[in-house]
Amino acid sequence: MDKQQLKEQVETIRQAFSYINRFRGQTFVIKIEGSLIGDPFFPILVKDISLLHHMGIRIVLVPGAKDRIDDILNTYKIRFDMINGIRISTPESMPFIKMAAFDVSNGVMTMLAENRTNAVIGNWVRARSIGVRGGIDYQSSGMVETLEIGIINNVLNEGLMPIFPNIGWNSQGKPYNLSSNELAYTIATELKAAKLFFVTRAGGIRAKGFTVPKSVYVSSDGFISQFTLSEAEEFIGANSGATAGEAYELVSLACRACKRGVARVHVVDGRVEGMILKEIFSNRGLGTMIYANQHDNVRPMNHADVPDVLQLMEPFVAKGTLVKRTALDLENRLADYAVYEVDGTIHGCGALHRYSSRMGEIAGIAVDEVYASLGIGQKLVSYLQEKAVRMKLRQVFVLTTQTADWFSKLGFKKADVKVLPKERRQTYDLKRNSLVLVCKISQG
Ligand SMILES: CC(C)(COP(=O)(O)OP(=O)(O)OC[C@H]1O[C@@H](n2cnc3c(N)ncnc32)[C@H](O)[C@@H]1OP(=O)(O)O)[C@@H](O)C(=O)NCCC(=O)NCCS
Repeated sequence: MDKQQLKEQVETIRQAFSYINRFRGQTFVIKIEGSLIGDPFFPILVKDISLLHHMGIRIVLVPGAKDRIDDILNTYKIRFDMINGIRISTPESMPFIKMAAFDVSNGVMTMLAENRTNAVIGNWVRARSIGVRGGIDYQSSGMVETLEIGIINNVLNEGLMPIFPNIGWNSQGKPYNLSSNELAYTIATELKAAKLFFVTRAGGIRAKGFTVPKSVYVSSDGFISQFTLSEAEEFIGANSGATAGEAYELVSLACRACKRGVARVHVVDGRVEGMILKEIFSNRGLGTMIYANQHDNVRPMNHADVPDVLQLMEPFVAKGTLVKRTALDLENRLADYAVYEVDGTIHGCGALHRYSSRMGEIAGIAVDEVYASLGIGQKLVSYLQEKAVRMKLRQVFVLTTQTADWFSKLGFKKADVKVLPKERRQTYDLKRNSLVLVCKISQG
């Protein structure tokens, strides 16, 4: 192993430790799509979930049972209808639905036992009927009324993993068939979970077929990797006509969960090995993250950030894509810099330097390669452009040797060195021969 690989490995271990410390004692609610349960990679997912449990994270599992219910109803030749994505659960079908729901939970519990994880299946959900909506009687399809939060917390405090089949009971003991997505959402909000996961077969939210807010970054493979709460709400509003489909439902539930105190909701692909660990320990997952607080945001740089920012820039300086800066350079222009921070870790940085003639230079944009192609670079540039508006600048420019195409995509246009303000022309490094790109700043 060469020195660089060793350095990277050590860095990964450090990062993992810092995340373990942060999340120990916190609650994660994990809803797993039922169709994943029989897949060959499912035992690996269970193993990873067990690892998290053994590290001291309080895990609650909600296994979806839709496919198993379909199988059992079909086997026993019991007809069922789905309306608006909800199964019409007749009282006659309920014993079979219960059987399927508990069968799935039992299967998951058995796999957890193989990983020495003690789990318990419970009847902690008080439910009631959805009733009649729009003239349709949903019969024994129900909704969550309350949860036995005290008991669930006791179970968690005992170091056990609670498993919730998608069944709830009314005060007379009548069972109802619940949506596992809704159930997971309710549990996460009631337990004030740090994270709610929807582990799906489709992976994160695909942009295709939806109107996506401008500020939201769509990856080249068509996925939305992150939403702020306000972006997710904008997405819900813009696509309210297209209410059918699980992706829309999950973003809606994520918005509701974030508004009720869940810090992050992750929609992730259950078919990729290690995805849940990657999502937690690097914030660079393979799905979509919807987050409530502003910690994932761009903010001004402060003194304490300087060493991290220098470290972030280092590989790009070594490659010659960024001009070297010293700690003193950064300290002297502290107010010009902004950083992109997630959970206390800096993933990106950039600066806006002011010049005469109401011109500004966007410089030192760098994004940690581990977090590349998540839209962080774009968010930093747009933050600095907004800052330029507030500073009443009329134009910003950038000098670059390797990223002209990237800035062009963000609306920058190639220009001659002559457009630079006089004082910047004097320091322009002829040997470096950087390209000049400019972008007009509209003041309203
Ligand atoms: C350029 C840089 C800031 C982009 O950061 P990022 O957070 O990955 O960028 P975004 O997520 O907003 O955009 C990613 C997209 O830009 C593309 N991209 C990245 N670098 C590019 C480059 N040099 N030229 C053209 N496109 C580039 C990616 O392939 C990706 O494309 P995709 O959406 O089709 O997958 C980052 O790669 C970096 O730090 N580069 C080194 C430092 C540098 O050159 N800074 C600019 C000088 S001021």
